[in-house]
Amino acid sequence: MALPTATGATHRPEITLRFSHVVAEETPKGLAANRFKVLVEQRSGGRIGVQVYPNAQLYGDHDEMQALQLGAVDLVAPSLSKFGRIGLPEFEMFDLPFLFDDLNAVRRITLGPLGQKLLQGLSRQGLVGLGFFDNGFKQMSANRPLLEPGDFAGLRMRVQASRVIAAQMRALGARPVTLAFSETRRALAAGVVDGTENPVSNFWTQAMHEVQSDLSLTEHGYLGYAVVTNQRFWQHLQADDRALINQALQESLAFANQIADTQNDQALLALRQAGTTRIHSLSAAQRRRMHQAVKPVQQQLARWIGERWMGDLKLALRKV
Ligand code: LMR
Repeated sequence: MALPTATGATHRPEITLRFSHVVAEETPKGLAANRFKVLVEQRSGGRIGVQVYPNAQLYGDHDEMQALQLGAVDLVAPSLSKFGRIGLPEFEMFDLPFLFDDLNAVRRITLGPLGQKLLQGLSRQGLVGLGFFDNGFKQMSANRPLLEPGDFAGLRMRVQASRVIAAQMRALGARPVTLAFSETRRALAAGVVDGTENPVSNFWTQAMHEVQSDLSLTEHGYLGYAVVTNQRFWQHLQADDRALINQALQESLAFANQIADTQNDQALLALRQAGTTRIHSLSAAQRRRMHQAVKPVQQQLARWIGERWMGDLKLALRKV
């Protein structure tokens, strides 16, 4: 597609970046990807184009990483929960339930040496990690309130492909079922699974409120992303173009972090107005009991990724 340049003339982009993701446009990730497109196209005067493919239009959870490794797309931003399946289980530390008190605690990892070490590990897969950004804290949904560990008994809960999240669901008494994000709403509607977890922006924009009668505001875990590109593609860019793209991306990630909370708040408001789904808050005692039930998951992760990573994690989270 021909793009208008700063002077109003149009010409075909010399380079087109393909950015594939699985969520709706009105989510922190969708808005960040669209912001990135605008910045890159404006600043390059239309010489570099960005084609964004939202909603798993092009690739879903099962194949987006492979598509990136093969060069079929240039940028993806999977949730941190989805890196274990490509041989980087240490990313699943972000999935530990009740790990983060708030987003400042997340920043102690993502902006520090541990975050850098995690991103550098992507080179083992021929990938380059360009940065982290937030969606926010996850809530639990089903066709019943989920306020106590006992409420999960026998439920089939859709999870992302993360052993830590699966272990969390088992610790709560549920049966985890790994499904791609794009299949989740349909599976909930068909009764293939009974419930799921996600920040409200994802819940709302996938219209999960039409198929789930109860949303419990558990805030039990974090959902964030890493933006990843292919090493070969990245190294072949001209240094100036690489710098322009990276700058635009870092600004888009900062923008996403600024708006993520608001997006989730607005989605919650819209959900309340829709009136389809009962919204429950947990008492401090209920939250404590849930936290207690999932504590063993931490030791399980230590077995999978080793004490070294756990030590790094503890150090990163230490308040200074
Ligand atoms: C999910 O699969 O539930 C999320 O990772 C989707 C996303 O990318 O926010």
